Amino acid sequence: MVLSLTLYCAWLALKQKRKTESVTTCAIPLEKFTISGLQFTVLIFNGTKVIKRQIVNSKPVNRKPKYLSSHPIFSEMKKIMMVDLAAQYQKIQPEIDKAVLDVIHSTAFINGPEVKNFQSELEKYLGVKHVIPCANGTDALQIAMMALGFQPGDEVITASFTYVATAEVIALLKLKPVLVDVLPDTFCIDPKAIEAAITPKTKAIVPVHLFGQCADMDAIMKIAKKHNLAVIEDVAQAIGANYYSASPTPPKEGLSTAQSSNEIVMQHPPLGGRGAKAGTIGTVGCTSFFPSKNLGCYGDGGALYTNDDALAKKARMVANHGQSVQYYHDEIGVNSRLDSLQAAILRIKLRHLDEYAAARRKAADYYDKAFANHPKIVTPKHASYSDHVFHQYTLVLKNADRTRLREFLASKEIPAMIYYPVPLHMQKAFPDPRYKEGDFPVTEMLCKSVISLPMHTELDEDTLKYIVDSVLEFLK
Ligand SMILES: Cc1ncc(COP(=O)(O)O)c(C=O)c1O
Repeated sequence: MVLSLTLYCAWLALKQKRKTESVTTCAIPLEKFTISGLQFTVLIFNGTKVIKRQIVNSKPVNRKPKYLSSHPIFSEMKKIMMVDLAAQYQKIQPEIDKAVLDVIHSTAFINGPEVKNFQSELEKYLGVKHVIPCANGTDALQIAMMALGFQPGDEVITASFTYVATAEVIALLKLKPVLVDVLPDTFCIDPKAIEAAITPKTKAIVPVHLFGQCADMDAIMKIAKKHNLAVIEDVAQAIGANYYSASPTPPKEGLSTAQSSNEIVMQHPPLGGRGAKAGTIGTVGCTSFFPSKNLGCYGDGGALYTNDDALAKKARMVANHGQSVQYYHDEIGVNSRLDSLQAAILRIKLRHLDEYAAARRKAADYYDKAFANHPKIVTPKHASYSDHVFHQYTLVLKNADRTRLREFLASKEIPAMIYYPVPLHMQKAFPDPRYKEGDFPVTEMLCKSVISLPMHTELDEDTLKYIVDSVLEFLK
C-alpha cells in the first residue's frame, strides 16, 4: 500500500538559512523520511516559497553513504560543481544586474556602446590592435578562415585531441582538416607532427591552447614562417594566459607601444619580458565566451583578435553579412554578433579575469601537491613557455579504472568529466579513409585515460580536500 504524506520542511530551510535551490535540496536528510511501504511528497522551501516538490519512495536506491552527511562539505551543504557560475555571479551580482538593466533601458541591444567598449577594453587587456567580437567561438574560427580567403580543398592542420569545433569549421568550409597528434604532457599539438603533415596545399595551422595552456608557439611560428602558413590560434580555453618566447622578434612597425607589446614582451620574465597574451602571437586568435569558459558570458559569445589591419577589416566584414557599408555586400558573409547584454557582462568579468585565473591556479596547486608522485596519476605539465590558466584540471590515469573512479566520485556527489572521450579521427562526423584507429597513439591514449576534476573560481580548501581525499581513497 502506498500512502501519500506531505512533509512541510520550512523549519528546516529556515534553520539552514539557505538561499539557493541546489543548496536547499542537499539540506534535506531524505533517509529520515523513508519508511517501508510509504511514499512522501517533500516540499522544499526557499524562505516561505516552495521551490521544489520531490516524491520520496520508501525504498531509496543508492542511499548516500553515512560519511557524506558527516563530512564538513556536506554539513555546509555545498553542492560540488564542475563550474560554479552561481557562486561566481553572487560575488559580482550588483554590478552585473545594473549593467544588464542599463542595456535593457538603453534598448541598444545590437552593436551598442557596450560592444564597442568591451572591444576596446579587451584590445587593451590583450595588447592587440584589433578585437572583432562575434557570436561564439566556433563562428570566430569560421570567420577567421573565411577572412583569410581559404578555398575548397585547401588543407588546414590541427590537433586530433581537441573539441570538435576546431575541425568542424574546416570541414564546413569544404577545406580539408589534416589531423596531427599531440604531446603527451601538455596535450597540445606536436610541432614535429605538424612539419611532417605539410603539403603544397597546406594553408594554415590551428594550434589549440588546450585546457588553458599555450601550445609551443615558438616552434609553430617557426614552421609557419618557413612554409608561409597562417596560424589561427584556438584560444577558446586559454584567454588570459601569457606566452613567453625564447626568441622575441623586434617590434612591428606601425604598432603603438601597447600594441607592439606582444612583440617586445614575449620573453620569459627572467629574460626581461612579461609574455604575450595567448591568441595574439599567430596571424589571428579565436576565442569563446561560452559561460563555462575562463571569461564566460551569460549566453553565447566569441571574438577574433589580430594585429593585421587588413585581416581585421575583412573579418569584420565577413561577420557582418559581407558588408562594410550598409546594404553593399562585397562578399558572402555570415551574421555573427556579440549582443550588448553579453558585452556588458563581459566588461565586468574582464576586470576580474586575472583574479579568476589566480583562483584557478590556486586550486590547481592544491591538486598538484596532493597528487604529486602518485604512481597512478600524472598531473598536468606546466610548460616553461606558458602560463596555465586551468580552464580544466586534467589528470592522466595509469593502471586505474577511469569509469569506476568516475562512478565512485559520483557516489560522493563529486562530478568529473572526460575531455575528450573520442579522438577527432574516430568521430563518425569525420569519416576519412586517410585515418584509422592507431594513427594518433598519444591522442588515443589520452582519450582513454584522462579525467578532469572540478575546476572553477570558487573552490575552497574544504571542497578541494574532499575531492582529493576521495580520488586518493579510490586509487589506494
Ligand atoms: C577548443 C575549443 N574551440 C572552440 C570552441 C567553440 O566555442 P563556442 O562553444 O563558443 O562555439 C570551444 C568551446 O567549447 C573549444 O573548447
